[in-house]
Amino acid sequence: MRKPPIRFWLSLPSRHLAAALAGSTLVLSACGGGSQPVSQVPQVPLDPQLVADGQEIFRYDTFGDETFWTDLLKMNEVIASAVDPLTAASVGLKIDAEALPDEVVAGVLDGSIPLDDPQTTLALLSLDAVVGARGEVSTDADGIMHLDRFGITCALCHSTVSRDLDLPVAGSGGVNLRGIVGKRLDGWPNRDLQPGTIISLSPALTDDQSAEYASWAADFGAGFYDPRINVWTDPGSNPALAGTDVDANLAAYKAKGGNPVVIPPAFGLVGLDKAIFTGDGDTAHEPAGPVSYWNRYVGVVQMHGHGTFSDERLTINGQPLSVDHREGDDRITGILPALEAYQWSLPAPSLEEHGATWNVSASLDAAAVARGKTLFNGQANCASCHSGDALTDVNTAGLHPASASVALDRDYINFSATRQWRVTPLRGIWQHPPYFHDGSGAFDKDTGLCMDGSGIGALAGTDRATEDLACVVNRYNAADGHDLQLTGAQRADLVQYLKSL
Ligand code: HEC
Ligand code: HEC
Repeated sequence: MRKPPIRFWLSLPSRHLAAALAGSTLVLSACGGGSQPVSQVPQVPLDPQLVADGQEIFRYDTFGDETFWTDLLKMNEVIASAVDPLTAASVGLKIDAEALPDEVVAGVLDGSIPLDDPQTTLALLSLDAVVGARGEVSTDADGIMHLDRFGITCALCHSTVSRDLDLPVAGSGGVNLRGIVGKRLDGWPNRDLQPGTIISLSPALTDDQSAEYASWAADFGAGFYDPRINVWTDPGSNPALAGTDVDANLAAYKAKGGNPVVIPPAFGLVGLDKAIFTGDGDTAHEPAGPVSYWNRYVGVVQMHGHGTFSDERLTINGQPLSVDHREGDDRITGILPALEAYQWSLPAPSLEEHGATWNVSASLDAAAVARGKTLFNGQANCASCHSGDALTDVNTAGLHPASASVALDRDYINFSATRQWRVTPLRGIWQHPPYFHDGSGAFDKDTGLCMDGSGIGALAGTDRATEDLACVVNRYNAADGHDLQLTGAQRADLVQYLKSL
């Protein structure tokens, strides 16, 4: 499925060739990870071949979505003319260190391969080195590269890279590619990604659409995406919109409270009966499985892969959502079992192994963790919903009514199929602040307060996961939350326990 990489230096403009070849070898042996995934919840038997196929699909399969990202959005033209590697990095795109030949790494580090030239972006795409992006690149007689086709994969939003490679670029005024170039971490949400900013660059959008996409990064921050917007604004993703006014639809959607949500992890999901925040995904609505329900939805409705999606529970203007992007081939249905198996194989990452490179202190106070666990299971009543090994009651209690979420946003649920909440599994939670579907479990460094206006005392200035988890606990402790009456010391103990999960 994966194309063999075109040799990067052959496609580089000649002025870079000598420099690339002259560079010394840099061995990327410092890449983190390498250990085998160990699942923290009971494993269903996973077929290793299916998992391996699923990894290829997760990383490299566009499902034919070039018909959208190239033919309609013209992102290939935008990238080739304006997106150099530093610009790409500034909107959160990541580079797979293991896809880079040593000569290329050396050329980048010694400054001979320019990071301010879109041609370098095209060369990286031709190496399959841009996480979640696929490009078909050709080179003309003058040695200039062209991006003929461009598409995206699941890894764009649900993979990031390790932060353990120190990669200072010579003569660049201090640019370090740490955290931009690293080892793929599949299933880890890319919370640096600004999908809205990227999409806003498309010349095919109305001004109102561009403004909406561009607003996400400013209004919410990086790592947010609105997986419902297409249903309301994109006739290609909802036949019921044909012939209607896109800007009017967008305005109506925003008036109803349509907003982006945090990109969640795709790890730690094995064995859960329902997928996504609102539990829309289950085997009743997608025989291939709960995660597959959502993979089909996002693959067809958001990525515009070639396939079909329909769900009579999702209606707009009284019409059930039914999307057909097959264009003569169904590239979704057949891959769903392998794709789901791969996601189920992804364990939640441990703080001990990865915390240090993610600036989250792994030195937990064991006594505080123990006290926090007692609170979680007792006085704070967290375990009444966050129960079992995965810390969710989804398989025992099912879904919960709207009131079960203490997040500040109350509207996202209305765009779901169930209009209920699934209790979020909490393993590996240290890895992905901010919290809750809307990111409202978050500390604002500028105001020194949580988004709900509460304070976190001595935990301010620690690390982002600790600060944001303290804000989560505050939400539950608040009078308009669960009114738990926990002391500051008890809240700090709960935070220590949450970090340990
Ligand atoms: C443009 C960004 C983006 C892309 C591309 C994308 N997703 Fe997602 N994904 C999201 C967002 C946002 C959500 C949260 C939706 C919700 O829970 O309501 C989500 C939810 C999920 C979940 C649910 C996790 C859970 O807690 O149950 C899984 C699994 C997932 N995506 C896998 C995939 C796969 C596989 C693909 C490729 C077919 C994909 N995603 C493509 C943004 C994206
Ligand atoms: C009534 C059921 C219920 C109880 C009790 C409950 N939670 Fe939750 N929890 C949820 C639901 C539902 C969500 C998802 C809310 C959302 O995203 O809007 C959630 C989300 C979270 C998250 C965010 C996860 C993420 O990935 O963003 C954390 C952390 C959390 N809960 C911790 C706790 C703690 C700590 C307690 C006890 C003080 C607790 N919960 C009590 C239902 C519950």
